[in-house]
Amino acid sequence: MMTSSNRPLAVITGATSGIGNVFARRLAASGHDLMLVARDEARLDAIAAELARAHGVRVEGVAADLSIDADIARVADRLRIESRLAMLVSNAGFGTRGTIETADPAGQARMLRLHVQATHELVHAALPGMLARRNGTIIVVASVASWSPTAGNVNYNATKVYQRMYCEALAHELVETGVHVQALCPGFTYTEFHDRLGSGRKGIPGWAWLPAERVVDESLAQARARGPVVCVPGKRFKLIVFLLKYAPWVLGSLRQRYRRDRLNVTPE
Ligand SMILES: NC(=O)c1ccc[n+]([C@@H]2O[C@H](COP(=O)([O-])OP(=O)(O)OC[C@H]3O[C@@H](n4cnc5c(N)ncnc54)[C@H](OP(=O)(O)O)[C@@H]3O)[C@@H](O)[C@H]2O)c1
Repeated sequence: MMTSSNRPLAVITGATSGIGNVFARRLAASGHDLMLVARDEARLDAIAAELARAHGVRVEGVAADLSIDADIARVADRLRIESRLAMLVSNAGFGTRGTIETADPAGQARMLRLHVQATHELVHAALPGMLARRNGTIIVVASVASWSPTAGNVNYNATKVYQRMYCEALAHELVETGVHVQALCPGFTYTEFHDRLGSGRKGIPGWAWLPAERVVDESLAQARARGPVVCVPGKRFKLIVFLLKYAPWVLGSLRQRYRRDRLNVTPE
């Protein structure tokens, strides 16, 4: 446990790359001690050393696979005893390829545990202390995909709906508690996500991508202002979400292209 510091503590899952890594950089720069969670221990150690050196804060890497029950419980136990816990960013996540029929069942099970079970258990562990202190911020990284059902993306879509709705409902429980919750719903963001997915950025036009820095800066600004629960970074994605909700046919050809790429089928 990190004891000899008065700085607020931020815990970020999936901090070794992409959106989580930018959260770590921004929160270290604004004077938070950090607990960074991901599977790759060497990468965690390198980031922890770099951020501690650059910002004079304490950074601890906790190697954990949050799709495994024992590791979820180990991280949750740490959250329960951290009396300086000011922010939890539940961000770790991944996509898969293939339909429900063809995708590797083990990968689908891992996604359900990471996006659903780990999200809930970490929030549940963070809340009692935050409520007692009447202070805290919880950010869960969901996705614009929570409004956009897509072939080849069934469990990803469904788990991202879970994460967004979890936050929207939780916000009703947290009114006037001093604890704020946000469902961060980015659109396509330059990270390692699509490289890990093995799809690259094929089929998605260049204008549709946001830098991770932009996503994180909008999220933190909205959270600091205690703004709306749902945060959709970027004007173009706010428009896309509006269209997905109220006029999905307008995005028909774009969504067809994306579907063909997801399913790896030749255009008709
Ligand atoms: N990029 C996009 O276009 C986009 C759009 C909307 C939403 N999102 C969401 O944004 C979040 C972050 O993704 P990203 O785009 O930043 O992707 P990324 O660059 O691939 O980062 C994913 C992070 O999650 C960690 N992680 C993956 N599986 C894990 C596990 N089982 N246990 C612990 N940590 C795990 C990875 O680290 P290790 O490999 O070291 O474990 C890595 O730090 C995800 O929830 C994703 O669904 C992304």
